[in-house]
Amino acid sequence: MPLFFEGSGTVSAQREHFTDLGYLVLPALLPGSLLDRLVPEVDRWVDDGLRSRSIAACLDPGPDHDPPPVMELELPAHGELITHEPLLRVIADLMGAPFVFHHLHSDRHNPGVPGKPWHHDHEPNDAGDPDLSMVHALHYLGGLDGTVGNLTVVPGSHHRPWAKSALAHLGTTELPGEVVIDELPPGSTVVINSALLHARRPAPSPPGSPARYFVDASYCQTGARWRPVKPYWRHMLRTARTLDLDGGRWPELFAERHFTEYARHA
Ligand SMILES: [Fe+2]
Repeated sequence: MPLFFEGSGTVSAQREHFTDLGYLVLPALLPGSLLDRLVPEVDRWVDDGLRSRSIAACLDPGPDHDPPPVMELELPAHGELITHEPLLRVIADLMGAPFVFHHLHSDRHNPGVPGKPWHHDHEPNDAGDPDLSMVHALHYLGGLDGTVGNLTVVPGSHHRPWAKSALAHLGTTELPGEVVIDELPPGSTVVINSALLHARRPAPSPPGSPARYFVDASYCQTGARWRPVKPYWRHMLRTARTLDLDGGRWPELFAERHFTEYARHA
């Protein structure tokens, strides 16, 4: 089973690969000039407590769903990453334009970080239409080298209607047919169908292992209204429009009409 889809393939073959297996590896998609600005932003996001404030605004949103003082997309390189044109062109090819931005998370995993059990991240839409797709772009800013944590996926698992945490009780144990992705050059992106079962399997971190910089952004095909995950999602989309992150090239990308109201879920 091919881990990488080679860039020499046709768009239709690339789409077929993604449709069948539910993931696509894009080695070194992100240019060094963008990585050089993203990494210090992640450091600031984590070290200045902005990430903690962002999590608190989701866990304890209050009656007005107040946003945190700073959102990820207000960090310039993160805003640029969301609308990185080569990425959006790939997503448009995979799911068919138009699509809407759903959310972004940014984090730094230090050596020894625990694993993340098997799960998927697909959110429902109000049409209950399983043919409308949601994707996550998993960005590994420094690549993957077999330390800190590996991405593990079960190809084709997105075709079955698993509950999000149906296999969480298995932790990160090996599953039949799984594919481990543990060698990627810096700036690599793995696009997954959000319904694909995946896990972060902990790996030994020899002394001196670098932290893993990880940013994930998700996008939904339009045609129904999707459930937001951030209480301040309207503010998030409004800010993205105010900042003109898409430069007028992707008119549906930050449109509010593609979402239902926020409701807290377990
Ligand atoms: Fe996930």
